[in-house]
Amino acid sequence: MIESLKRSFGCGEVNKDSLGKVITLVGWLATRRDHGGLIFVDLRDRSGLMQVVFNPEKAAEAHKLAHSLRSEFVIGVTGTVVERTPETINPQMPTGKYELQVDKLQILNKAKGLPFMLDEGGSVDEELRLKYRYLDLRRPETLAKFKMRDDITFAMREFLHKNGFYEIETPILTKNSMEGAREFLVPSRMHEGKFYALPQSPQIYKQLLMAGGVEKYFQLARCFRDEDLRADRQPEFTQLDMEMSFVNEKDVQALMEELFVFMFKKVLNKDLPVPFPHMSYEDAFKDYGSDKPDVRFELKIHDYSPLFKDSELSFLKAVISKGGKVGGLCVSQHEFTRSQLDKWVDVATKLGAKGLLWIRFKEDGSVESPVSKFLPADFLEQVKSVYPNITAGDTLFLIAGNYTDAWPLLGRLRLALAKDLNLIDTNKFDLLWVDSFPMFEFDDENKRWHATHHPFTSPQNTEETDPSKVIARAYDLVCNGMELGGGSVRIHEKELQEKVFDLMGIDKATSEKMFGFLLEAQELGFPPHAGIALGLDRLIMLLTGSSSIRDVIAFPKTQRGHDALMEAPTSVDNAALKEYGLLKKITAK
Ligand code: AMO
Repeated sequence: MIESLKRSFGCGEVNKDSLGKVITLVGWLATRRDHGGLIFVDLRDRSGLMQVVFNPEKAAEAHKLAHSLRSEFVIGVTGTVVERTPETINPQMPTGKYELQVDKLQILNKAKGLPFMLDEGGSVDEELRLKYRYLDLRRPETLAKFKMRDDITFAMREFLHKNGFYEIETPILTKNSMEGAREFLVPSRMHEGKFYALPQSPQIYKQLLMAGGVEKYFQLARCFRDEDLRADRQPEFTQLDMEMSFVNEKDVQALMEELFVFMFKKVLNKDLPVPFPHMSYEDAFKDYGSDKPDVRFELKIHDYSPLFKDSELSFLKAVISKGGKVGGLCVSQHEFTRSQLDKWVDVATKLGAKGLLWIRFKEDGSVESPVSKFLPADFLEQVKSVYPNITAGDTLFLIAGNYTDAWPLLGRLRLALAKDLNLIDTNKFDLLWVDSFPMFEFDDENKRWHATHHPFTSPQNTEETDPSKVIARAYDLVCNGMELGGGSVRIHEKELQEKVFDLMGIDKATSEKMFGFLLEAQELGFPPHAGIALGLDRLIMLLTGSSSIRDVIAFPKTQRGHDALMEAPTSVDNAALKEYGLLKKITAK
């Protein structure tokens, strides 16, 4: 850049102190307007917008050149900051009282016709926005999310450093860890036929750091999981990963709460109430049909089975006699039309329910429902025995089935109803701990127990031998219905670790082969330890009110795991496959 175009400060930083001064601004051309002789340009850099004016009488050469300017040209301008006339002040713009009277213009780079206009914003097809992510990033609302991300990670580092944590990196080329998710494999050229796994989290390494006497560790760790993608899931994402020695679950949770208080105050200037409430997994499932309940609104699930045990509604009776339940949600004082009620039946069916039964209590106390003639006259009174708050004007939505199937459906219906009926206060951050998770889940497909959290989690009831009854010393941090983080107290003794592997049906030879290094470390002075990992992308999603995790990752994959910008994954040629020892295998198959 030539000397005369050295930028003075950002476009958005022009203020009354700049008045009368000759300054240089650089940036992208956001808009250009030709007004007779004068040409007006809104110049944008990451600090904001500033209006610059080309006047043929004051700077003929610059004015002439300004005719060639187009959207997203990169330019530098030097001139004098002046006050705008009162009728031309733009109160929407922080610099709207001023303009720059240009003397000199330099075009630093041209831009051809853009694939989309930046101010069309979110309405542009996402695939196209991601293909041109660098253009998308120029949109101030997109860039603001990355500013927030930087503020948050800086606050995390500041807090953890002050609290004695060491930031330590752990390997990306590693080994399958049996933590639960499917891993990405990387073929090794040097060890033909062998593969590294990309880490789904630094779990085992951070435990080994505790064995190494680090005592307090953290890392903004990249994690990789080959899972089906959703609005809050990416194949590569970032965790704030932490581990501490000589602590229990209360210490980890208290530290996390302090970190949240610090971040919220520093970045958002908000006071966050602590401690966060706790809820057991059992209660979360019973009341909300989910292990990550959104508690910003009530609409709890209740068990209405007692009302239908001896009912004339044979299909409900049949479910109950087979050990199932009838769960329901009571929407208070909302006038659903018939077609709206039919729509909710459709919604429930799409969620996977076999059916949805609605029962509306009209103002006069009478009952409206497809099954009204099978309901007793005093049905409203009967419902009060389950849900005392019900009154005329309320509507019940019921789903029958196995507890483990029907409750999650009710949970999802609860969220859909709340969204549709505007029951959610979107300004709230309702954080809570969900704990006392079952240690194991039965995997029907592979007919074996696997760890709900991961197999290095310590059980609460260490003597229990029935896998279905073991409770984990694990905890999840949940905010507004999203799982933000998860952690646990770990096993630090070999005997207990072997017992857990045994309950999961992993025999000694396999556990030795997979985790011999960990079992040995547990015999060489392993301190008690516990930790947690927080999904950084999800946290930023919540703080920026983004509906997709892709909005807060600079170069995310599309929902189909595709890098739209670089076009990855790509195929590789046979020579490369041979070099990695992969071709032989494929052709031999
Ligand atoms: P867990 O598997 O619960 O625990 O992950 C911790 C947090 O990471 C985030 N997360 C994700 N974010 C985006 N995309 C994904 N695919 C994804 N998967 C997980 C979530 C989640 O709560 N090693 C343990 C932690 C520990 O025990 O310390 C672990 O990884 O916000």
